[in-house]
Formats: sequence, structure tokens, C-alpha cells
Amino acid sequence: MEKRIGLLTSGGDCQGLNSALRGVARALYEKLDKVELIGFRDGYRGLIQKDYVMMNRSDFSGILTVGGTILGTSRMPIKLIDQPADPQKPDGPTRLMAMIATYKALKLDALVILGGNGTHKTAYLLAQNGLNIITLPKTIDNDLWGTDITFGFQSSVDMATLVVDSIHTTASSHGRVFIIELMGNRAGWLTLFAGIAGGADVILIPEIPFSLDIVTHSLELRNKKKKRFSIIAVAEGAISTEEAKLSKKELRRAREQSGFPSIAYLLAHQLSEKMGQEIRVTVPGHFQRGGPPNAYDRVLTSLLGTSAADLIINNKFGVMVGFQNNRVVSIPLEEVAGRQKLVQPGSIYIQTARDLGICLGDE
Ligand code: F6P
Repeated sequence: MEKRIGLLTSGGDCQGLNSALRGVARALYEKLDKVELIGFRDGYRGLIQKDYVMMNRSDFSGILTVGGTILGTSRMPIKLIDQPADPQKPDGPTRLMAMIATYKALKLDALVILGGNGTHKTAYLLAQNGLNIITLPKTIDNDLWGTDITFGFQSSVDMATLVVDSIHTTASSHGRVFIIELMGNRAGWLTLFAGIAGGADVILIPEIPFSLDIVTHSLELRNKKKKRFSIIAVAEGAISTEEAKLSKKELRRAREQSGFPSIAYLLAHQLSEKMGQEIRVTVPGHFQRGGPPNAYDRVLTSLLGTSAADLIINNKFGVMVGFQNNRVVSIPLEEVAGRQKLVQPGSIYIQTARDLGICLGDE
């Protein structure tokens, strides 16, 4: 059997993209008589602008442990899909039309897309337009519907936990309160996991709006108990109960007016005013997405990547390869696109945090 397959990585990068590409490619090379792999540069941009590279076996060697993506990536919000592919030609084909044209011109049998939430909306649209699409779930946010876990997540939990651990030693030496702001705009998985793993005293996530009074009280209680230091892990998208009442626009304006660059700095200011205590802030940012995938993500991407190859061989398209209850599953893109998997306030992880005495800002 012969196949011509396109590959692209889209959206924010994460650990495990290269090992996933390797999983797909190696299984295809193993199982097919002839396979041609075409890598699009910088995600959908490469597909729109026909910017690609013909790949061979050696391109997939030595990348299992390498962070980032050998193909490059970019973000392309779906709201821009009807924009002209070439800004110089406003009446020319749209981005969507250009992507379909590239797929057809290169006579692809299928396109494997590695991406998160935004990427899946476009992937579904391409599938609806007749392209043979298979997707793989990547994001450090772990917020993709249809899979228990996304690749990149466990590696970034390791990175974020390393930050919490390191801050612990300096916080305990000085007897300080530290706020560590972790990634996650709408989903708190990363902060919740790193917070539990790193032994944070307070964990604030977007799914559970926090009360400043309750956070203050929990810190004061620690002071009373003569605890020398406190660690707050806050997700970048965490909001207070007052902010939860605002519209998106009002919230953005209120945050802008506060003059603080992000929630950690705002919270540090508010808490230090209330408690009369100095508070330090650490924001590791993209450090959390960097470096090699951990062993878990190498195994997960190998499972998912090789399963994607099986789907290609069996001509099963229009699906995301996910992982549910320790099984590889394929989920129709229509079920995945436009849905987000958030932390449920009643989940076992939240309950565990509460049982450990961690303050989640709400009680
Ligand atoms: O989606 C992954 C993520 O790292 C989020 O956690 C974060 O909010 C966002 O990407 C940051 O985006 P960018 O890399 O474009 O700054």
C-alpha cells in the first residue's frame, strides 16, 4: 500500500510534539510499502501558503527527546479563516480555500494535525470540507474534550512542580509568602496538579472563583500556627468572586485599570494591603512548555502516534486519537471541536486538595 500523508503542528507548542510526529512516521514506515511524508511549516500557515518540506526517515531520528516542534508552529484563530490567503490579493482565495487547494494539489491521502482547542475547530472544518483529517491532542492545558489526558500536560506539570519545589526552599528560608502564577487561561489542570504535587497551601484556578477574604484568612491561620511561609499557586486565568460577575469585556477593562501585569501581581498587592506583609511573585511563563517531554509523554505520544498511523492505514478519518480509561480511542471531530474539558469542582482532584487542607479560595 502507498500513502502520501501531510503533517502539521499548530497552536502553542508543548513537550511531546516531536515524539508524536516520530510515532506516526515510524509506524507508517514500518507498516506501509511506500509512504511519502510532507511536513507543513508553522502549522496552518504552511498549509495556506504551500510552505512544506518533503520528509524522510532520518528527519524522525533523534527527535524523541527533543522539545518544541521540528515543523514549527503558529496560531491561526478560526475567525480569520475567511480572510484572504494572500493579504495582497483581497479578492483572492480565502485561507480555507487555500488550505483545501494545497491538500488537493499535493494529492494527499490524509493530513495529521497535532493541536489543541483552537486547532481542532479548524481541523473539523477541513474534515467537513472533505479532507481526510486525523488529529492528535496536544496542550499543556489538558483541556481538550474527548481525552483523559493530552500530551505535553504531564511534562509541564513536572516543570511547574519544579518551580513550586524551588520556591519552597527559598520561601522557607526567608519565611515569606510567595505567589506562583502558572499557565492556564480557562483551565486550571496544570495549576491544580503542580499545586498538589508541590505542596502549595493555596491553589486558585479559573473554574473556582476565589474570595480574597477566604485566601487572607487561610494565610493568617498559617501565620497563627507559626508556619514560616506560604505558597499560593494561581492559574493565570483565575478570577475573584467579584470578577466572576463581570462580562469578559468588563473584566479586561478592570484588569487593565488595575495597572498590574497579571493576576499574581494584583493578588500580591491586594493581600499585602490586607495583611501588612510583603509578598513575592514568581511567573515561570513559557518555561513550563519548554524542554524535553518526560517519560510519560514519550510513551503517550508513541501510543497515540502509532494509533494514528493505524487509522490512516484503515482509512478511518475525521477523528481525534484520544486516551480514555487507559485505552486509545478515536473520537469524532464534531464531538471535540468547540468543547473544552475543564476541572469539575466536584472532581477527585479538587476533593483531594480539600482533604489535604489546601485552600481553594472558596471555603
Ligand atoms: O494553550 C497553551 C498556553 O500555554 C496557555 O496555557 C497559555 O495561556 C497560552 O498558551 C499562552 O500563549 P502564547 O504562547 O501565545 O503566549
